[in-house]
Formats: sequence, structure tokens, C-alpha cells
Amino acid sequence: MNAVRLVSCLFLFCVLFSTSGYSRNVSSRPAVVNIGAMFTFESTIGRVAKIAIEEAVKDVNANSSILHGTELKIHMRKSNCSGFLGLAEALKFTENDVIAIIGPQSSVVAHIISHVANELQVPLLSFAATDPTLNSLQFPFFVRTTHSDFYQMAAISEVVDHYGWKQVTAIFIDNDYGRNGVSALGDRLAERRCRISYKVGIPPDSGVNRGDITDILVKVALMESRVVIVHVYPDMGFKIFSMANHLEMMGNGWVWIATDWLSSVLDSASPLPSETIDSVQGVLVLRQHTPDSDRKRAFSSRWHKLTGGSLGLHSYGLYAYDSVWLIAHALDAFFNQGGIISFSNDSRLPSGEGSSLHLEAISIFDDGKLLLNNILQSDLDGLTGRIKFGIDRSLILPAYDVINVIGTGYRRIGYWSNYSGLSTTPPETLYTKPPNRSSTNQKLYAAIWPGDTLLTPRGWAFANNGKQLRIGVPIRVSFQEFVSQVPGTDTFKGFCIDVFTAAVSLLPYPVQYQFIPFGDGKENPSYTELVNKITTGFFDAAVGDIAIVTKRTKVLDFTQPYVASGLVVVAPFRKLNSGAWAFLRPFSARMWIVTACFFLVVGLVVWILEHRINDEFRGPPKRQVITVLWFSLSTLFFAHRENTMSTLARFVLLIWLFVVLIINSSYTASLTSIFTVQQLSSPIKGIESLKESNEPVGYQVGSFAEYYLREEVGISKSRLVALGSPEAYANALQLGPEKGGVAAIVDELPYVQLFLSRQCTFRIVGQEFTKSGWGFAFPRDSPLALDMSTAILALSENGDLQRIHDKWLTQSSCSSETSELESDRLHLKSFWGLFLICGLACFISLLIHFCQITRQLYRATPVESPSAGQGSLRSGRRLHRLLSLMDEKAGQEKSAAKRRKLERSLSENDRDCELGRNPMRKETERMTGTTST
Ligand SMILES: *[C@@H]1O[C@H](CO)[C@@H](O)[C@H](O)[C@H]1NC(C)=O
Ligand SMILES: *[C@@H]1O[C@H](CO)[C@@H](O)[C@H](O)[C@H]1NC(C)=O
Ligand SMILES: *[C@@H]1O[C@H](CO)[C@@H](O)[C@H](O)[C@H]1NC(C)=O
Ligand SMILES: *[C@@H]1O[C@H](CO)[C@@H](O)[C@H](O)[C@H]1NC(C)=O
Ligand SMILES: *[C@@H]1O[C@H](CO)[C@@H](O)[C@H](O)[C@H]1NC(C)=O
Ligand SMILES: *[C@@H]1O[C@H](CO)[C@@H](O)[C@H](O)[C@H]1NC(C)=O
Repeated sequence: MNAVRLVSCLFLFCVLFSTSGYSRNVSSRPAVVNIGAMFTFESTIGRVAKIAIEEAVKDVNANSSILHGTELKIHMRKSNCSGFLGLAEALKFTENDVIAIIGPQSSVVAHIISHVANELQVPLLSFAATDPTLNSLQFPFFVRTTHSDFYQMAAISEVVDHYGWKQVTAIFIDNDYGRNGVSALGDRLAERRCRISYKVGIPPDSGVNRGDITDILVKVALMESRVVIVHVYPDMGFKIFSMANHLEMMGNGWVWIATDWLSSVLDSASPLPSETIDSVQGVLVLRQHTPDSDRKRAFSSRWHKLTGGSLGLHSYGLYAYDSVWLIAHALDAFFNQGGIISFSNDSRLPSGEGSSLHLEAISIFDDGKLLLNNILQSDLDGLTGRIKFGIDRSLILPAYDVINVIGTGYRRIGYWSNYSGLSTTPPETLYTKPPNRSSTNQKLYAAIWPGDTLLTPRGWAFANNGKQLRIGVPIRVSFQEFVSQVPGTDTFKGFCIDVFTAAVSLLPYPVQYQFIPFGDGKENPSYTELVNKITTGFFDAAVGDIAIVTKRTKVLDFTQPYVASGLVVVAPFRKLNSGAWAFLRPFSARMWIVTACFFLVVGLVVWILEHRINDEFRGPPKRQVITVLWFSLSTLFFAHRENTMSTLARFVLLIWLFVVLIINSSYTASLTSIFTVQQLSSPIKGIESLKESNEPVGYQVGSFAEYYLREEVGISKSRLVALGSPEAYANALQLGPEKGGVAAIVDELPYVQLFLSRQCTFRIVGQEFTKSGWGFAFPRDSPLALDMSTAILALSENGDLQRIHDKWLTQSSCSSETSELESDRLHLKSFWGLFLICGLACFISLLIHFCQITRQLYRATPVESPSAGQGSLRSGRRLHRLLSLMDEKAGQEKSAAKRRKLERSLSENDRDCELGRNPMRKETERMTGTTST
């Protein structure tokens, strides 16, 4: 205490010796400090705030430990919610040398006098101006001692999202307060993928009569949304509710959410007139949350004694009370920091000479900035909880109560806090835990909604209330299994219609609808035009085989697809019985040539290996050639009669017969497939080859395929041929591009499947090249589309969708063979291994054969030449001569040779056995014997 006095004295000393020319110094700790307060005394907030502020000033002055003897003096001025009056009052405050102003109450006034506060450097402590834009840096001297509507709107948007509503209507008072609040609401809703579908402003002057409100409410009722947010002033709000009640808009299916204007009325005017409370039954209301505390309870009971129960205390009253304490504490800190209350003339104002306005009287609070800083750095406990400002000059930990008006009072169904969202426990209990915004953690107690129901309203209704939905249905001419008009009536049948009615029957509410035929009945209508009629509002929805494509999803909402679809290419197939030369097709030309060569080679090899010892391979050359050919060709059928005697020839033959076996069976298999399997008769093998070819392409009339082929694939328009029916498809495909038909047709899979179930000579070639589906089309953001999607998924999960599909679209009988396409010819590359083995066998056998001959040759004729080097050359030459001689002999004297051979073999039989020589050796001996002897 002494220290404080010492410091005060020191300041007094400093001030006494300071020499400031024009300043009107009062004292460093003056006896009296003036503060202003401006609000609307007669308003719901003002009535309570007036008493609260007076009580707060009393309390502060009674406690000498706060301002240490300095007395707070409050100057209250009325400002109706008029900016002009507020401005005048604010300027008048300069007469009183106020150092801070509590108020204004209204956001409109706050916007205007914030400019005054900036100029005079007098902090404004508004306990009730909730316009979020007042936080802007433009108004540094505006301090909000309550929570911004930014957080109230966040709370509303979380409530809206919590109940799963997507669109809301906002009724607001069209001034800074209402407009900026609703704008913040729009932003907050957008964060949760919800939106304000209709905003309606009410003029702020009180000249709005019942007729105007009725007009507004009738417009609201025509909207789809059944969630109405009312952000107005109390008297206007009650007018709206009473009129809504009158128009039966406070009944079943409606949701009304009021901002805190209603909670302050409910809190302050305890028993509301019964007709007033009757008109707000089931309304959800937000109220600034102030934590329970002993101080608050004590103040409440004091309040009760003070007012005799005629006026309830609402949260704005508590904020007003705390604002006074906030100033007192900040002022104390201000004095402690050496702040001086002094004012100076505003040099920027024009001199007042000759003017009766006396603007020169307006003076600036010199240390206003210091006081402002002290206010913003406050950290104290008030009736409304902890009072501390965050970085954006707004109070920390914003929280709201969510209240449900029931009977003659209300029930709190939960809380919202910026910290952890919606909860059923007070936010103070959550601040100690980590924030948890998981959806399972977001809870509210059950509310009783307008119409006295516990069932949460679905939040929307069919826009043209009660009237039937106009649903456009294409009049299909082809593929009527999908959709077709029952002749002579306006009813439709088909797969899509059945899916639609099944889905509608799953909706939890009745839907009145009416099918409206679209199309001329001569050809399929354009589906693009059909869906465009939804965007223009002619239809409320479209049902049918409508493909979900990008162009359409940009302007419409589709349900989940109920049929998978996609574009495919259909091309003709036919049995390829290509006449007389079909038997050549199994093998490629090279394969034929190589096979033929091998026949000759093998024949030749066998002849070389055999003809010397086997009589069947001997004879005149002509005969030998024929034998060789006959022999090798007859191996084809394993019918060769000639015996092979040499081991090597048998070896070669064995390999060769194996090769023949393989070739034979491959040929048979390939030929069979050529004669039985169907083959593509056009060069189209998929969308790629279609793009490259120059042949005409068919598409279904009205289908998006035309656009797709032109724009996405890049097929010129001249190549595209519109075809109206499956019969036209078949005709065009059968004619082919040469005779004015088409090479292929591009259409969606479901149509194609149906088409192919009757036409077995066409096939899908290549892959599906787009993946999409069919859905029902609704206008943008239609809640019905959402519910229909859920219903379609349910249909698909319970198997009904498949049953409906099977009922209308039976699968084709000939689509099972699609797996086999063109069977290619057999190429040499599949067989070269065999040929290699066979060739090697021939080569090795020949090699062995010649080696043997050479060896025998040496044995029979001892080396003549002394030079070893010439031996091989000579022996080679000799071999050659030998062979030619052999052939000569064999040719010339076949009968003589035969006879001789017989004789020899008879006479030499004994010796052969004795010596173990082979016949070849014998032969050579014989030959050499004849030459050398
Ligand atoms: C203001 O302070 C000066 C000294 O700095 C003093 O002389 C003067 O009397 C003071 N004025 C008032 C009105 O107290
Ligand atoms: C006076 O104010 C101080 C600080 O706010 C507080 O601690 C004290 O309890 C108050 N005294 C009375 C009598 O209210
Ligand atoms: C403020 O409005 C009330 C009615 O709302 C009116 O009686 C009063 O005269 C107005 N005050 C001023 C200063 O205009
Ligand atoms: C400041 O204003 C007062 C009138 O309120 C006037 O008497 C005084 O001369 C002015 N001072 C200066 C320096 O303009
Ligand atoms: C509100 O919460 C957000 C994030 O959840 C945070 O960034 C912001 O600072 C909070 N505001 C206040 C005033 O506490
Ligand atoms: C959030 O709350 C839910 C339910 O109350 C709980 O299951 C979950 O674990 C909590 N998450 C965190 C991060 O605490």
C-alpha cells in the first residue's frame, strides 16, 4: 500500500513539474474520471444494461483497492439505433472529458462513432455490437466486450450441419448488423458444404407492416429449404414469428433458428405474453454462454432484489457490468504506467470562427492509446468468466448455449464452443481436455421441433409446395425395354421407370410426381435437351436412361448410377469360310516354304545315308528322285514303305517323324478353328483403329456418343451416321462401309448388350473406352437427388436392382462365345525349335556318315603319299572321285551290280562275321578293290 502511495506521489511530482504548453492537466490520479455510456435505454438490452452499468460503477467506486480513491463518474446518453444521433451524442461526450465510452449498443452506431473514437482516441467498449466486421483494423479503438457474431454464426452452421440440413433461408434486418452477420453465416455454412439458398432482408426502419412481412414469408415458404434463420431485432422478430404462426409456418417440417436477440428477450422479460411464447414454440435459440460461478449467482440474487423480479438479467447485462470493471482495471494500470488524463484541441478541425457549431471544442484524449493498450491487455475474472482479448481484439473462448423454446419457457439442449464444437456438457469442463471435434463427440439433447414433434425435420420440402413434381421422361423409339410410353397414355414402363418407382418407394416421405413425355415419338429425343429443360426449370427432374457425363454434371445433380455404362465399339463378325484356298491359311507362307524344304532335305539326307546299302534307294537317277520324294512325303502320313537300314538314317527319320507329328496336329487344329470360329471381317479392332480408319461410324440418335466421338475422339462429323433403331444398326453393319453402311457402331454398353442378344453376327471389339453410368437428373443441390442416391444404393444392396434388371434385360444367348476372336495363322517362329532339332539331327548324321566313309577309305588304301600335309587333300579328292564312281556304277549297271552284290555277299558272309566289319566297309572295300586291282 505504501509503495503504491509512493508511486502515486512520484507521479504527482512529475506532473507538477512538467511543462506542457496547451495541455489541460487534471492530475495524474484525479479525484474523478469521466466515462461515457451510450445505448438505447428502452430496448431489451438497454433496460438491463442501464441497471448493470450503474451497479458496476457503484461496485467499483465502493472498492478502494481498484482505483485507489479515484471515482468513476458515468455519463449515460441515449442513442436510438440511429447512426446520426449516435454521432451527435458521441461528440457531445467531449464536453464531459470522457476517457472511454461503454457502448454503443447497436452495430450501426458503432460503425459511425468508431470514426469519432479513432479521432478522439477514446476507446469504445461495446458490450452489444456484434457485427463481425467491427473487428476490422479500420477501427482500432473499437473493443468488443462480448462475442462477435462470427462465432454465433459458426455455432448456427454447426447446428445446421449436425442435423444434416444442407440449405437454409436467412431473414435478416438489412443493416450492418443483419447483413454482416448473415454474410458470416454464409461463410461458415460454406465451410460445412451447406449454403444459404435464400436471403431476405427487412428494412431497418420500423415502418414495416404486416403485409410486407407476409409477402416475405410467402416467398420463404415457396423455397425448398425449411430451415429459417432469423437474425433481426426483437420487435421485428416477434412480428415475423407471429405472422409465421398465422401462416402455419410454425408447424411440422419447419425449423426456425433465432440468434441471441430472442434469448435476451426470453431472459429479461421472464413471463412473456402467452401469445408471444406460443408463436415461438420449437424454435432453436442461441445465447452467449457465461459459465456458472459464485459471483454470478450472487449478482443474480442481488439483481432479483434490485428489480423485484420484474426484469430478468441477460448475458448482455453481464457483459455491460464487466465492461465497467474492465475500464476500472485498465485505468488503474494506466495510472500505474504514468498515464495522464489530458486533452488537447484537434488541430485538424477547421477553425470555428464565424461558425456557431463550435467544432473547436472537440478535444483529443492524449493518452488514449495507452489506455487502449491497457484495456486490450486486461486479464481478469468477471461475471461472464475470464475476460481476456485474443490477437484479433476479440474475447477468448467464445461459447454459446443452444436453447429450445418449449411451453412457457425454454430448455438448454446443449452448448457450442469454439474450442470443441457442440456438446451436452458445459464448455468449461472441456477446456482442460484436448479439443475433440470428431463427429461422434458432437452431441445435443433431443429438441422438440415446431409442430410439437421429436422427429428431426428433414429441412427441405418440394419447392412448389404440394404440387406434383414434373418429371421429364424421354419417349424412346428404340430399345424400349429401358423406357417406353404405354401407347395412348401418359404412363411409362421399362427398366428405368421400375428402378425409379422402387427408389421412390424407399424414400421416407411421399413424393408426388407426374411423368411428362419428352420427344416427338418418331425418333429418340436429344438427352442433352431433356436435361437442359431441368436447368431452365421446365422439369423438376428427368428419369430415364440418362448417361452421367461431364457436360451434364456441370449443370445438374445426378443420383448414383443405377446401371454401369460406357461406350463400346460394335463391329460385324462373320464365319471365315474363305473358299478354295482356306486349307492354306493355317500356316504362314514362310512356314509352308520351310516345311517343304525340310521334306526335301530329310529325303535327301535319308537317301545319302541309305542308298549305298539299301536297294530300295537305288536305281536310275529318275527313279531315285521319285523314291526320295515319295519317301519323304509319305512320312507325312507315316506311310513310308521303304525300310531304312542305317542307324543314322533311322535316327534322322525318328526325329523327323516327331516333327511331322507336331506340324500335322498343329495344322489340323488350326484348320479346324478357321472353319468353326467366327472372325472379325472388318479392320476395326477398337476405338483406336476406328479413329485411324476413314470409314463411317454409327451412333444412336440423341445419344451423347456423337458429341464424345466428335470432341473427345476427334472423328469428323462427316463420318458419323445417326442410326435410330437396332434394326438400323444391323442393316448398316451388314451393308458395311462399301455399300453405304458403317464399319462400326459406337454406343453405350446396355443398349449394345440388348442389341447383341438378338444379333449374333456382331461383336463388341476392344474395351469399353469410357466408364460411366446412368442416373436420374435433378437440379443443382437438390436434396431429393441425395435421398434418391441413398435409395438407389439401398436397392442395389438388397438385390432389387438386379431383379429389375433381369426382368427387363435378359442376357443374350450368343454373347458367351465372345472370348475367341481372330485365330491367327501359325508362324514359323512357333516351330523353329523343332526344325532346328531336325536340321541338327540331319547334319550330325551326315557328318558321322562321312567320317565313317573317310575312315574306311583310309583303312582300305594305305597312305601312299609320304607327306602328311597333302594326305587330307588327297583323301578328300579321292572321296569325291569315289562317290562319283559309285554313283556311276550304280546307275550304269544296276542289274549287274545287283547280281554281283548278291554273289559277294554270299561269298563274303563268313569273312564279314569273322571280322565284324560293317556292310559299308565291305562296300568300300569292294569298290576300292575293283579300282586298285
Ligand atoms: C497543470 O500543471 C502545471 C504544471 O505542469 C501547473 O502549473 C498547473 O497549475 C496545472 N493545472 C491545473 C488545472 O491543475
Ligand atoms: C475489490 O476489488 C478487488 C480486486 O478486484 C477484489 O479482490 C476485492 O475482493 C474487492 N473488494 C470488495 C469489498 O469487493
Ligand atoms: C428513440 O426512440 C424512441 C422510440 O423508439 C423515441 O420515443 C425517442 O424519442 C427516440 N429518441 C430520440 C432521441 O430520437
Ligand atoms: C482549445 O479550445 C478552447 C475552447 O474549448 C479554446 O479556448 C482554446 O483557445 C483552444 N486552444 C488552442 C491552442 O487552440
Ligand atoms: C476459434 O477456434 C479456431 C480454431 O478452432 C482458432 O483458430 C481461433 O483462434 C479460435 N478463436 C478464439 C477467439 O478462441
Ligand atoms: C473424441 O471423442 C470420441 C467420443 O467421445 C472418442 O471416441 C475419441 O477417442 C475422442 N478423440 C480424441 C482425440 O480424444
